[in-house]
Amino acid sequence: MSDQAIRDYVEANRERFVEELKEFLRIPSVSTDPVNAGEVRRCAEWLASHLRGIGLETVEVHATPGHPIVYAEYMGAVGKPTLLLYGHYDVQPPDPLELWLTPPFEPDVRDNKIFARGATDDKGQLFAHIKGIETLLALTGELPVNIKLLIEGEEEVGSKNLDAWIEANKERLASEAVIISDSPMFAPGLPSITYGLRGLAYLEMTVRGPGHDLHSGLYGGGVPNPINELGRIIAKLHDEDGRIAVPGFYDAVRELESDEREAFARLPFTEEGFIAETGVVGLTGETGFTTLERIWARPTLDFNGIWGGFTGAGAKTVLPSTASAKFSCRLVADQNPDKIAALVRDYVRSIAPEYVEISVELHHGGSPVITERDSRAVQAALRALKKSWDVDPVFVRGGGSIPVVATFSEVLGVPTVLVGFGLDDDRLHSPNEKFNLENFYAGITTSAFLWNELV
Ligand code: BES
Ligand code: MN
Ligand code: MN
Repeated sequence: MSDQAIRDYVEANRERFVEELKEFLRIPSVSTDPVNAGEVRRCAEWLASHLRGIGLETVEVHATPGHPIVYAEYMGAVGKPTLLLYGHYDVQPPDPLELWLTPPFEPDVRDNKIFARGATDDKGQLFAHIKGIETLLALTGELPVNIKLLIEGEEEVGSKNLDAWIEANKERLASEAVIISDSPMFAPGLPSITYGLRGLAYLEMTVRGPGHDLHSGLYGGGVPNPINELGRIIAKLHDEDGRIAVPGFYDAVRELESDEREAFARLPFTEEGFIAETGVVGLTGETGFTTLERIWARPTLDFNGIWGGFTGAGAKTVLPSTASAKFSCRLVADQNPDKIAALVRDYVRSIAPEYVEISVELHHGGSPVITERDSRAVQAALRALKKSWDVDPVFVRGGGSIPVVATFSEVLGVPTVLVGFGLDDDRLHSPNEKFNLENFYAGITTSAFLWNELV
């Protein structure tokens, strides 16, 4: 079937595609809060029935100790290659609600963009593939390759139960490559393949001083204040050059190749644009690296939340009993999240004074990845992107994490192609998340072209 037939089908069905995406987005599949498990399950069921509706015959919803996994397959292309498509139907919590211009689970189209939680991360991008597959099925009654779809409901909470499921279904998941659309393009209209993702080690620490809160006048100056001590610990985690001070932290870091640094430098990036996008007053980071190098290829240690003592209106003179912080390290190849968590824990304990008690615990982790840039699947994706956008794609890296990518390579021995349709300003994880409908439509044609290119 011709490329034009694909373009025409997508063009003719745009409105229905958007209405269906809205249905998907209306289901508040927030994975982090257990009270919401019913909605997450409902979303899995909706997805499964939608996949049956486009003509897939094998569609299953698998229970896990957490949220369900949706698995589907088309194996009718006898003798042809088999690909695995991965995506996630769970979303981040919508808070803070008051900052949304329209409610997060009432999708709203403005200015050719669809606003809702999950619009780009990852429902919209995943749905582009589902509609790409529908396009081929509708036009020809078959698919040119075999496709297995693995769609999870726990990505935003660290994919806790996915590894075990993949391990248990290894043979069934056999494929040539994994295709994932859960990442941004470098710029509007500039199709991109992401060949590296950072990993993650998410930690929390609590400093305990007094056995109970104390009057700060009666006792202040004579006992340890956990907030003061937490602050001192935090201050010792980086040096003056923005490097992480934990001994051994950088030992496993794979340095950038010179051709990578040159390729990053050629991308259309300006610090002014980055400052405008983030709303910061000025930039900072590890000395000796450009901004793109810092966010794509260097590890970080960042605090995500900090609390303790009195934070209500007015003033209260108190020495709190405890102070805590959540913090996370973004990791790069070849750092290991468990090893890094142990190094950080040991260092924090070593710098904490003896007169407080300190606990450091690991929440979840994920390994960094560098994916192949010359596989058959990458070549096919480059051609599909070029056809769809009429622009030569670029290779980029991503600063975020998709923990399962490491599992695909370690357990299945299969390379992943990250071909994202999002944009950096899509506000993923933030209020007013959106997905540009042009990217949605181009994502659908890219997907349909891609399966044809993979024959
Ligand atoms: N889609 C993102 C990952 C991503 C973001 C890749 C930006 C490339 C660029 C994914 O849904 C996500 O948010 N991952 C979490 C992982 C964590 C919860 C284990 C992340 O990166 O914080
Ligand atoms: Mn995602
Ligand atoms: Mn996410």
